Amino acid sequence: VTDERVEALLKQMTLAEKIGQMTQVTLEVISKGDSPFNMDKPWELDMEKIHEVIVNYHVGSILNTGGLVRTPEEWNKVITTIQDVATKDTRLNIPIIYGIDAIHGMYGAGATLYPHEVGLAATWNPTIAFDVAKLSAYETKAASIPWVFSPTLDLGIDPRWPRQYEGFGEDPYLSSVLGVASVKGFEGENIGDKNNVASCLKHFVGYGNPKSGKDRTPAWIPEPFLREYFLPPFQKAIEAGARSIMVNSGEINGMPVHASKMLLKEILRDELGFQGVVVTDWFDINNLVERHHVAANKKDAIKMAIDAGVDMSMVPYDIEFCKLLLELVKEGEITETRIDQSVRRILQLKLDLDLFENPTYDYKEYPEYGGFKHHQIARNAALESITLLKNKNDILPLKKDVKLLVTGPNANSNRTLNGGWSYTWQGEETDIHAKDHNTIYEALVSKSSSENITFVQGVEYPKEVADYKIDRIVDIDKAVAKAQNVDYILLCLGENTYTEKPGDLDELTLSKNQITLANRMIETGKPVILILNEGRPRIFNAIEQDIAAVVQTYLPGNEGGNALAEILYGDVNPSGKLPYTYPRYTNDLVPYYHKFSASTAHNDGNINNNHEINSQYEFGFGLSYTNFEYSEYQISKSTFTSDESIEVSIKVSNTGKRDGKEVVQLYTTDLVASLSPSVKRLRRFKKVELKAGETKTIQFSLPITELSFIGHNNQPLLEAGDFKIHCGGFTKDFVLSDSRKL
Ligand code: IFM
Repeated sequence: VTDERVEALLKQMTLAEKIGQMTQVTLEVISKGDSPFNMDKPWELDMEKIHEVIVNYHVGSILNTGGLVRTPEEWNKVITTIQDVATKDTRLNIPIIYGIDAIHGMYGAGATLYPHEVGLAATWNPTIAFDVAKLSAYETKAASIPWVFSPTLDLGIDPRWPRQYEGFGEDPYLSSVLGVASVKGFEGENIGDKNNVASCLKHFVGYGNPKSGKDRTPAWIPEPFLREYFLPPFQKAIEAGARSIMVNSGEINGMPVHASKMLLKEILRDELGFQGVVVTDWFDINNLVERHHVAANKKDAIKMAIDAGVDMSMVPYDIEFCKLLLELVKEGEITETRIDQSVRRILQLKLDLDLFENPTYDYKEYPEYGGFKHHQIARNAALESITLLKNKNDILPLKKDVKLLVTGPNANSNRTLNGGWSYTWQGEETDIHAKDHNTIYEALVSKSSSENITFVQGVEYPKEVADYKIDRIVDIDKAVAKAQNVDYILLCLGENTYTEKPGDLDELTLSKNQITLANRMIETGKPVILILNEGRPRIFNAIEQDIAAVVQTYLPGNEGGNALAEILYGDVNPSGKLPYTYPRYTNDLVPYYHKFSASTAHNDGNINNNHEINSQYEFGFGLSYTNFEYSEYQISKSTFTSDESIEVSIKVSNTGKRDGKEVVQLYTTDLVASLSPSVKRLRRFKKVELKAGETKTIQFSLPITELSFIGHNNQPLLEAGDFKIHCGGFTKDFVLSDSRKL
């Protein structure tokens, strides 16, 4: 239901003014001379261009940042200049809606960077996802920016996909729970509150599954599969009130999503009931011509995208969008009623964000910007995400007086801890985030002492973003020599930072130079503790058996170094669990919910193939410094009808000597179904804190309808038959006595 103020405004607007609202340009378009992204050159807004864009073309939205815009104070100047023109110099005084990719915290001097979503997913803790979104919203709003292009709900189903770290891992249920928490954190109870922002779900839909593994290359997703796995996180986030959605730049089954009426109208609007704003991704209407070849020219492309359901075009440079869309309406190719639909949604969002009353905020009213409380939440998020994958002979935790050699390309880098969108692309080559935050090496020194901790680089990444895939050996012989005098080697491997293009990987295995460094360290005979700092699981089976302990940090943000040190020295007990399957081989890139037949080991007859799905570590896996034991697993009955719920209870005990947190995970298996079922599916989880010696009873309630699956006809089906339900290593059988369509 739209506000009457929106209708009143709409009535006064010319067609050109309406189309302007549907247009989003990048900051560069209204900047002087050189790109604002260039860190070395002075940059400023260009008042003439601002007038041209906002007054003459009526543009309603701007995105992006410039490297030289750093502090909230500088941001406020930029946004105030822009909003002053929009709200004072235009006929109807409609404010701009400014959007930004503050996807793991705002960037700017002193802003807090939290773990990327893949790390948040490893916490299995929706409260953390909520808090992180809430504080990111606060810091973004301190800069007077009301719209954040987050959360990403693309499934990290294939670790070759370069942006896997931007999503909540491979599982639709985990992504849904954390996506909902994140939307609520960004938008709050009242989106117009001074601390809240509009969220933007990305990238609708199926973006994370390109067949080649390369970003924005074609995906082939059968409709039942799309509905079963890819849609639910969006559906849940829409139900939670998400106010905007960004479209997938890629194509599915040969159809670019930006031109797909089926996805953007029939599914998104008619089925999922989404009423908010649909914005394109960067340049993507033009890409219907240039990349996808479904439109012969820009004008046809605009017609396709608007017909499909796009509300706002991230042009982002090409103001011709306004002219061509105007022509299309004048020629009767697009109705003004269709334009009104989109403009209504955009104006409603602006009103609900309170932009008409408060187009800017005073950064001084955000005293907690980059402050202690935010660092604590960032540290806590990193602490709960860090995942202990191997701990031979309980080598961890370390005593504070052990002597350590810390080596590897990720050992002394803020950049790699933070990851993309802050150190690359919009954050570019700046070290604005490094101040006051420790790298892994620095954090270890601050917990122990410089006498105990020796750092040798071993392998280094080049500084240039374009070369992010390259690393080089620098002083391995020195590292080998230093290793003689230490108790343990802390080998910090992983990835350099990147954002979008050119993020495509050549291979998923850790780089050759890093494996060389690992082998040289292993040859020293000193126990090697491997610290992984990476946006996805990089294969390392060639060295795994010779490594004493493995710790996955993901991209933990600017408190990541401190958090890791706390875990290594045992101040905090690790509790992260993998949000994806860690593959052992390049030919085992399947999620945990693969089909039974994905493993060929059980084929009979004459087929002599013993290949089982072979993960290095399973989805949901993660060790602790204490032990958890499960007992008294019970389900309410053994036969259910489709209108009932299964009530599950299980006891979990901390039988070790340290307090700790455990993630209790509930899975089901459908044994026989008309469409080949998955070996198991996550249905519920709960993170619980248990003191040493403590036992808690955990209860889950699972409506039977949630066991439905999308059948051949693309409709949800509940089929009678035999099921299993698994929790904490136990399994119970049960029967569903009736079938039904949902
Ligand atoms: O929000 C991003 C998106 O994820 C990828 N392309 C650019 C957009 C705006 O920066």
